Amino acid sequence: MEKSNGKKINTAVFISGRGSNLNSLIKYSNKKNSPIKIKLVISNNSKAKGLFYAKRAKIKSYVINFKKNNITDKELLNKLLNNNINLICLAGFMKILSKNFIKKFNKPILNIHPSLLPKYKGLNTHKRVIKNNERYSGATVHLVSEKLDSGKIILKKKIIVSKYDDEKTLAKKVLKVEHSIYPKAIKKILFSL
Ligand code: GRF
Repeated sequence: MEKSNGKKINTAVFISGRGSNLNSLIKYSNKKNSPIKIKLVISNNSKAKGLFYAKRAKIKSYVINFKKNNITDKELLNKLLNNNINLICLAGFMKILSKNFIKKFNKPILNIHPSLLPKYKGLNTHKRVIKNNERYSGATVHLVSEKLDSGKIILKKKIIVSKYDDEKTLAKKVLKVEHSIYPKAIKKILFSL
């Protein structure tokens, strides 16, 4: 992987919806000292609001239909290869990447999850955290493996859940944490390779 010669790592960000993490990663990538360049945004949803951020930043984006498993893997791998992508960041991407895809891509794939993994894998994390009266929650960046939300943890940050928090206020607090740890996790993984 190129990095020591001052070249930035070509990165693809995969989204499905709002894209606030994408927006924050675009801001990060535009910093002079950032090790990444976002070359590609992939969405499984043509209506994803996040596609706007890609357009605004003049980043190429593709909407891919993830229903056709094998064809999708090939199509996706070709796009990534043609753009020399060396890092994938999943940011609110609601599809599970196939075992075949992860193996064939063979470069780091990161994901951000709005809980303190290994606790609260899957969906509706904030709702479950509130329901269980947890004292802490937070966000985790991890490597993507075949099992959902289960790859090696790269970075996580804890916040206190206040007794006044509801699902909405907690989601807002955690999102702020997500935006701050994703760039740090990227740096950590790239400099450990
Ligand atoms: C984030 O909370 C992320 O952790 C989760 O989905 C949400 C996506 O938000 N996987 P956004 O699209 O980045 O705004």
